[in-house]
Amino acid sequence: MILWYDPYPAVIDEARLGDVDDLADIHATAFHRGWHAAEVEALLVQSGVFTFVARRGVPFGSRRPVGFVMIRAAGDEAEVLTIAVTPRHRGKGLGRRLIDHALRRLYHDRIRSLFLEVDETNGPACRLYKAVGFKVVGSRPNYYAKGSAPPATALVMRADLT
Ligand SMILES: CC(C)(COP(=O)(O)OP(=O)(O)OC[C@H]1O[C@@H](n2cnc3c(N)ncnc32)[C@H](O)[C@@H]1OP(=O)(O)O)[C@@H](O)C(=O)NCCC(=O)NCCS
Repeated sequence: MILWYDPYPAVIDEARLGDVDDLADIHATAFHRGWHAAEVEALLVQSGVFTFVARRGVPFGSRRPVGFVMIRAAGDEAEVLTIAVTPRHRGKGLGRRLIDHALRRLYHDRIRSLFLEVDETNGPACRLYKAVGFKVVGSRPNYYAKGSAPPATALVMRADLT
């Protein structure tokens, strides 16, 4: 087993407008239909939306985003609009840290439930969500187009924050 020590672990903080291009790039590496920078920017400034970013880099130097989670809250419910980590930084706990930050913020804001939709064949995402307490509360068959393969089912998941 190789033990890997990271001298500059990622920090998590809130997104800024200057992050828009990086967030669009990260999204494009993760999803078939990426978001344009303009779409990211429109969501970033939308009322009820907050975004946490994982940044890597040396202290006091520039820290580039390598992952982000975007949440929209309305009333006492919220939904995960997206979560993505760049491929070379996956599997190092960043997705978990991003979701944990979002859950803490929602708990602080007295939001009662967080919803999301996930492709049931997306193993890493399903594992991550189950690990932080999401439960399957519904499904939408034939929801995600898969090119020539049959469309995949979306699982609707909910985490209760009370
Ligand atoms: C889903 C995603 C955000 C997870 O980010 P990440 O930083 O790799 O996740 P973490 O390292 O925090 O791992 C979280 C859990 O997922 C598991 N996991 C991560 N990568 C995995 C892989 N390739 N295969 C299986 N499980 C994996 C980890 O084992 C961990 O579970 P554990 O704590 O029980 O061991 C990332 O894979 C991603 O960006 N995927 C593409 C975009 C996407 O699918 N987003 C979700 C849409 S609903």
